[in-house]
Amino acid sequence: MTLLSKFDDLRAALQALAAGGRNPFDVRFEKISSATEAVLEGRPCLLFGTNNYLGLTFDESCIAASVSTVLAEGTGTTGSRIANGTYGDHVLLERRIADFYGKRAAMIFTTGYQANLGLISTVAGRDDQLLIDADSHASIYDACKLSAAEIIRFRHNDAGDLAKRLGRLEGRPGNRIIVTEGIFSMLGDSGALREIAHVKREMGATLIVDEAHSLGTRGTRGRGVCEDLGVESDVDFVVGTFSKSLGAIGGFVVSDLPDFELLRIACRPYMFTASLPPAVVGSVIAALSRISSDASLGERVRRNSGKLYRALAQEGFAVGPEPNAIVALKMPDRETAVRFWNRLLDQGVYTNLALPPATPGSLSLIRCSISAAHAEAQIETALAIIIAVGRELGVLDSEPKETLAQVAEHVPA
Ligand SMILES: Cc1ncc(COP(=O)(O)O)c(C=O)c1O
Repeated sequence: MTLLSKFDDLRAALQALAAGGRNPFDVRFEKISSATEAVLEGRPCLLFGTNNYLGLTFDESCIAASVSTVLAEGTGTTGSRIANGTYGDHVLLERRIADFYGKRAAMIFTTGYQANLGLISTVAGRDDQLLIDADSHASIYDACKLSAAEIIRFRHNDAGDLAKRLGRLEGRPGNRIIVTEGIFSMLGDSGALREIAHVKREMGATLIVDEAHSLGTRGTRGRGVCEDLGVESDVDFVVGTFSKSLGAIGGFVVSDLPDFELLRIACRPYMFTASLPPAVVGSVIAALSRISSDASLGERVRRNSGKLYRALAQEGFAVGPEPNAIVALKMPDRETAVRFWNRLLDQGVYTNLALPPATPGSLSLIRCSISAAHAEAQIETALAIIIAVGRELGVLDSEPKETLAQVAEHVPA
């Protein structure tokens, strides 16, 4: 028995995965050529698995802001926000995010993961109850582990089940805190926020919504699904990340809570880690300005997502429930998913392989993420390749319209 023998099953699973071709957890891009293209294994590939929803990683204004900030303020802050790690730009970014959401205050964190960890573990105390959607992201589950509160899971997107579980708590002391998401990261389905907000109003609770995948991709102002569904005033805390639509790294929480500032000296994942480096803060401020001033970014990612989703659904793929910037293809089994993902990469299309236990309902998924930066031609190419691989592996059952060799000619040289 060695220290790591507890991971023997994990090792065996990884070996089985790698035997299918590549290790999906060890993909190494030799060059990132743009928001939508890279070089992998010596060949160009199209990026359809990056969460770069608005393509801002290569935006000129974001890069310029990042460069000028690193030149002016150095490479890192070397300290926590409550010590030496608060610069003028951290405060400015918090003001900009709060204004973007029309909320009183914001706190920024070093990652989106830490934003969930920090907020949830701090506001949910020993006598409180956390009611979380069963399909919540790992950062929400980990936040629950860090919190002293009672943890109650409700069925995915089921406001009725939430109401039932809240009802059982009647008469018990403590605050009820509901946590759910704007768009769920595996199947790309939206949170049932109208129904959940209704339950919150009727039964009395605090509501936290993680808009990690919906900031920039949903809502006319790009504020996410809460904006889109008209429930922003019911939400007590919006959590989000800078690592997807904003093309950088970091996380945030916005709220109208009057005592919000108190969290800065109570929230351990905020206090006991170094603050975001200046270059990141600079680029995020620029990215937020881009989103605020250019509605076409959101419109484009929605148009591109709709195109890919509808075409794949029409071909016969089992897709997620609605077209969002995450388009998931449900594979018949784990082995087919692994082969599918490898064949796509062979043909120059990078997607995410998502397997149980990280997926809802033990599904094996090919998870595509779509960007505003994808050109029509890139979507057409990816589509043709995905469909051809679907036919080759028997996931789609009718005759091929194009062979894989013909389709491969579309990949950029
Ligand atoms: C719903 C959700 N919340 C939080 C996070 C964590 O964000 P980050 O990767 O920026 O730490 C993710 C990351 O994928 C996510 O999907």
